[in-house]
Amino acid sequence: MTWANGELVLDSANTNYSYGSLQRILKYGLENIGFEKIKQMNEILVLGVAGGSVIKTLVEDIKFTGAITGVEIDAEIITLANEHFKLNEIPNLQIIIDDAFEFVLKTTKKYDLILIDIFQDTTMPAFLFESFFTKRICFLLKQKGFVLFNTMILDEPNSFRNKKYLADFKEPHFSMRTLPRVEQHNELIIIESVAL
Ligand SMILES: C[S@@+](CC[C@H](N)C(=O)[O-])C[C@H]1O[C@@H](n2cnc3c(N)ncnc32)[C@H](O)[C@@H]1O
Repeated sequence: MTWANGELVLDSANTNYSYGSLQRILKYGLENIGFEKIKQMNEILVLGVAGGSVIKTLVEDIKFTGAITGVEIDAEIITLANEHFKLNEIPNLQIIIDDAFEFVLKTTKKYDLILIDIFQDTTMPAFLFESFFTKRICFLLKQKGFVLFNTMILDEPNSFRNKKYLADFKEPHFSMRTLPRVEQHNELIIIESVAL
C-alpha cells in the first residue's frame, strides 16, 4: 500500500494493481461501453479483484446496483482490500477466492459484462490469450453482453501476443476491437456480443 498523489493505491513489486492509473484505465474502458448501458445490466463478473478499484467505479460512479461477482486468487489481497478499501461493505458484491480459469469452467451463470484484469505482477498468465478461454468467456456472455479485457504491453513479444490474439479471434456473433491507448503500456480490448 502506498500514497500516490494524495491517493492510497495498491501496488505489486513492479506495477500499479489498484486505484491510481489502473482505475483510470478501466474507467475509460467502461465509459467506452457506456455508463448508462452498464447501469441497466444485472450481472457483472470481475476476474482479478486486488483492491477492487473497478468495483468502486461500478458502484460509486456508475451507481450499478445489480450483482457483482469478483474472483481473486489471492486471499491476502482481499483481506487488505477489506481493511483499506472496505470492499466487504459493498452489499451487491460477492467475492470468490479461486483461480479465474477454474471459476469460468465451473460457473453456471451468464453475465452482461465480464471484466478481465489478471496480472501476476507485470506478467499476464498465458491462459488469458488461449482460444479455449476466450470461447468460454464468450459462452458466458448474455446476449448484447460485453467483455472488457485489460492487457499490458511492455515489450515486443507482448505486442506480438496482442496482435496475434486480435488476428486469431473468429467467434461467430462476437466482435472484437481495441481502444486507442490512454496510458503507454495498457491496451484495452473490448469483445461485444452482436445481436442475432
Ligand atoms: C491489476 S490487479 C486487479 C485490479 C482490480 N481489477 C482493480 O480494479 O483494482 C490483478 C489481480 O489479478 C490477480 N490474479 C492473478 N492471477 C489470477 C488468477 N489466475 N485468477 C484470479 N486472480 C488472479 C492478482 O492476485 C491481482 O490481485
